[in-house]
Amino acid sequence: MRSHLLNDTTAESYRRSVTEGIERVAAKLATTTRPFTGITVDALTPRIDEIDLDKPLLDTAAVLDELEDVYLRDAVYFHHPRYLAHLNCPVVIPAVLGEAILSAVNSSLDTWDQSAGGTLIERKLIDWTTARIGLGENADGVFTSGGTQSNLQALLLAREEAKTDTAAELRIFASEVSHFSVKKSAKLLGLGQDSVVSVPVDHDKRMQTVALARELERCRRDGLVPMAVVATAGTTDFGSIDPLPEIAELCEQYGAWMHVDAAYGCGLLASVKYRDRIDGIERADSVTVDYHKSFFQPVSSSAVLVRDSSTLRHATYHAEYLNPRRMVQERIPNQVDKSLQTTRRFDALKLWMTLRVMGADGIGQLFDEVCDLAVEGWKLLAADPRFDVVVEPSLSTLVFRYIPTAVTDPAEIDRANLYARKALFASGDAVVAGTKVSGRHYLKFTLLNPETTVDDMAAVLDLIAGHAEQYLGESLDRAS
Ligand SMILES: Cc1ncc(COP(=O)(O)O)c(C=O)c1O
Repeated sequence: MRSHLLNDTTAESYRRSVTEGIERVAAKLATTTRPFTGITVDALTPRIDEIDLDKPLLDTAAVLDELEDVYLRDAVYFHHPRYLAHLNCPVVIPAVLGEAILSAVNSSLDTWDQSAGGTLIERKLIDWTTARIGLGENADGVFTSGGTQSNLQALLLAREEAKTDTAAELRIFASEVSHFSVKKSAKLLGLGQDSVVSVPVDHDKRMQTVALARELERCRRDGLVPMAVVATAGTTDFGSIDPLPEIAELCEQYGAWMHVDAAYGCGLLASVKYRDRIDGIERADSVTVDYHKSFFQPVSSSAVLVRDSSTLRHATYHAEYLNPRRMVQERIPNQVDKSLQTTRRFDALKLWMTLRVMGADGIGQLFDEVCDLAVEGWKLLAADPRFDVVVEPSLSTLVFRYIPTAVTDPAEIDRANLYARKALFASGDAVVAGTKVSGRHYLKFTLLNPETTVDDMAAVLDLIAGHAEQYLGESLDRAS
């Protein structure tokens, strides 16, 4: 069994084994004609159930054959141009190379003595990101597992910085279409059920600052403490960007911590054409960025950035075995003092490889392309009487709904759209997402693949219309 340990004596076996795996994936990517096979839970479950984990196959090729059967064949492939569902991007090759290197070397980014150069590389990428945002000389941050964790940490810091010891008095303001992790964070932070105040959005799904001002004033009048305002720079469903400069003004006026959830919109930090859409982000106290959404990085790759590095101390604990106080005096850098995690992947290496091979403009151009594609998609939908499209895109999502000519009952139209999404998924021809707008079921394209074309979008819309019509036809038959 020692032959499986990766070390000086097994380097050749490592090369063979990993190459074998890469060959399979490369073959798969080259021949995948649909984003999904349409496999059902019922069909796949027994295949996995029947595998006895106490009876190993003892042979890598045999395990890869088995993996084909239980995973690779039926996985959902984000690189396919007709995968249009969630905020999953196709990944860039330099980042995948970084992933292979980081898991083989297996540095842990908590301390210098488990990572050495890794710590410095992560720090440099954090500095690069804070400079792109414009957070100033005293900024800092840390890589996290994702936007959910970044939001949680930002709100933890905001809570600690708030001027009260009474958690029940604290209020967080976020738009009604902000990410659910804001509410989840409030719960995890021990804040009350009413702690998150939902601020209405305008027609373009951007936070209404007049309403925010009203809520902040009410908060002050009630003797409560405005702990934080979460501005979303790229809402999950609509890609809408809250008015950051106006929100910054209000935060200043009411002494609230300004957090910008740019999990999705952070791609604009590298944009060649559209950086100005997130102007005002530089006034934030903290920012969430998900490189695994709009920087074409594999999951996970995210960071939380702060304007004032000293606020990160709220996540610091000293353990004698790991990061004793004397290390600070000895000026030995570590990242665990800034993180909610202890042992932590060197995810930063993926972004490092990406920036060193492609450059920031390379990433920014790809993101610009999907933003442009969304505009084309919007034109397509706006000109098509079969569909109702919700907002003109600020980033790269499109929310729309099939509207049949012969049916006016909104509930029946809901069912037709839900059916179309399911039927499309089952066919594997394309994958789209769904959401609710004003209580009604809508469909969603999330465009993160520059390989997707206008023709792809048009073809998928035709498929949706076809499935919806089929449902409505069958529904009529059922009724008659
Ligand atoms: C705006 C926004 N914030 C936060 C998150 C959570 O990010 P993650 O899934 O990386 O935890 C998402 C995920 O879609 C998001 O869209």
